[in-house]
Amino acid sequence: MQAIDIAPTFIKHAREAGGGITYQVASGTDLPFSAHSFDFATAFMSMMDMPDHRLVLSEVYRVLRPNGFLQFSILHPCLCPPTRRNIRDMDGTTIAVHVADYFKTSDGRIEEWHFGDAPAGEKAVTAPFRVPRFHRTLSSWLNLLIGTGFVIEEIGEPMADETTASEFPAVQDTRVVPLFLHVRVRKQASERQRVETKAGNELKTR
Ligand SMILES: C[S@@+](CC[C@H](N)C(=O)[O-])C[C@H]1O[C@@H](n2cnc3c(N)ncnc32)[C@H](O)[C@@H]1O
Repeated sequence: MQAIDIAPTFIKHAREAGGGITYQVASGTDLPFSAHSFDFATAFMSMMDMPDHRLVLSEVYRVLRPNGFLQFSILHPCLCPPTRRNIRDMDGTTIAVHVADYFKTSDGRIEEWHFGDAPAGEKAVTAPFRVPRFHRTLSSWLNLLIGTGFVIEEIGEPMADETTASEFPAVQDTRVVPLFLHVRVRKQASERQRVETKAGNELKTR
């Protein structure tokens, strides 16, 4: 298992955590791996932070073996565009979500925030996260995936269950509208490769 992140701090902490994974500092837009070398790839909440989505997807496509898949999560392009605000009732429960600026694709606008659940004392003494946003519409994402040659296999829009939402109120809004989009896409094997794999499997079962 190989893992990359562009931030040396993330890689330092990941290496300390171990887990039998080889970590290195690298960019998703220039993967340090040879072509056709992975059965699957995953990108967790990172691709929407990269400036060139076309390049990331073509790099992943390059390193996957035929029939390999990519599974990733991003901020939901429809429900977390540049503007998203929770509308709450008197008890602070989110009852609706205001979204706007869907068509304002952003190229590196810096967003600053603290995790909602971080203790107040911590928020007072730590600098906020500074994250560049590269918002794209849903059709841009889907057309990029299709244009790269991927076949869309499954889409997910996760929500917190009731118990989790009451234990962690910061995620309660995902029960109103989703915050994340999960996508699994596959690099299709050529017709010839599919026939060869089928023949190989039949031989093995004889
Ligand atoms: C929202 S954080 C998620 C981090 C981690 N995947 C997690 O789930 O906790 C986004 C991550 O994307 C990384 N990132 C941004 N641009 C990148 C790029 N071009 N190549 C690789 N990683 C990148 C950032 O350094 C950051 O660690």
